[in-house]
Amino acid sequence: MQIVLCRDAEEAAELVAARILCRLREKPELVLGLATGSTPLGVYRRLREACQRGEVSFARVHTFNLDEYLDLPADHPQSYRTFMRQHLFEGIDIPPDQVYFPPSEGNDLRARCAAFERRIAELGGIDVQLLGMGRNGHIGFNEPTSSLASRTRVKTLTDKTLRDNARFYGPDETQPVLAVTMGIGTIMEAREILLQAYGSAKAEAVREAVEGPVSSYFPASALQLHPRVGAYLDPDAASLLGMRDYYGRARALQQQLEADGRL
Ligand code: GLP
Repeated sequence: MQIVLCRDAEEAAELVAARILCRLREKPELVLGLATGSTPLGVYRRLREACQRGEVSFARVHTFNLDEYLDLPADHPQSYRTFMRQHLFEGIDIPPDQVYFPPSEGNDLRARCAAFERRIAELGGIDVQLLGMGRNGHIGFNEPTSSLASRTRVKTLTDKTLRDNARFYGPDETQPVLAVTMGIGTIMEAREILLQAYGSAKAEAVREAVEGPVSSYFPASALQLHPRVGAYLDPDAASLLGMRDYYGRARALQQQLEADGRL
């Protein structure tokens, strides 16, 4: 894992967005894996702005979101489809039929989850996957003890995740307890993964994911087995890392090699 210690969340979002824009320029038909939550908002704003300035086009891009709540209608204020429309899709030139979410309404969910996976494969696989993580280490909605080889499927949310997300629901609104999520095996097939984590509430999770043992009990630790993960952290999220000094030094040396044109 490449640990990128950033000055703050703004610098991290700038680096992640720059990476995606660079990949998009190299490959206009990029396949992007997308995440929801507060963490990727700075990246989405930068992608919208770059598109609106005419610097890039998403016209040939396909996107696959990680997850969606079971049975929330697409236009529900808390659905991830609403979130993505508001924060990204309405501000870029992507055709709506190139945007995919795991099936979260209706029947035949198992077969339709398999079709979602097949669609990813037909398009050549995910080039770049954006990730945040829950405080319990979940990626997408792969809660602790999810198989590290899991595929897109229905998943029951843990009490901790339900509590973390309860703030988004009014007193008379029903909070979904089930979601459909890409599996850890699905996520691990992306060619490149950009993980972001900000704030002290994520510090323990970052330590477990980066320096803890690989374990289904802490799903983000599976990323240690992926050859190309960048973890972009602000100082609070990185505060409990035991090898913080080393990561900072390694990044500076790496940047020097890049500046010398040697990488
Ligand atoms: C949800 C999403 C995850 C996301 C996590 C963290 O549970 N399913 O994909 O990473 O929230 O959210 P936040 O970025 O708001 O901390």
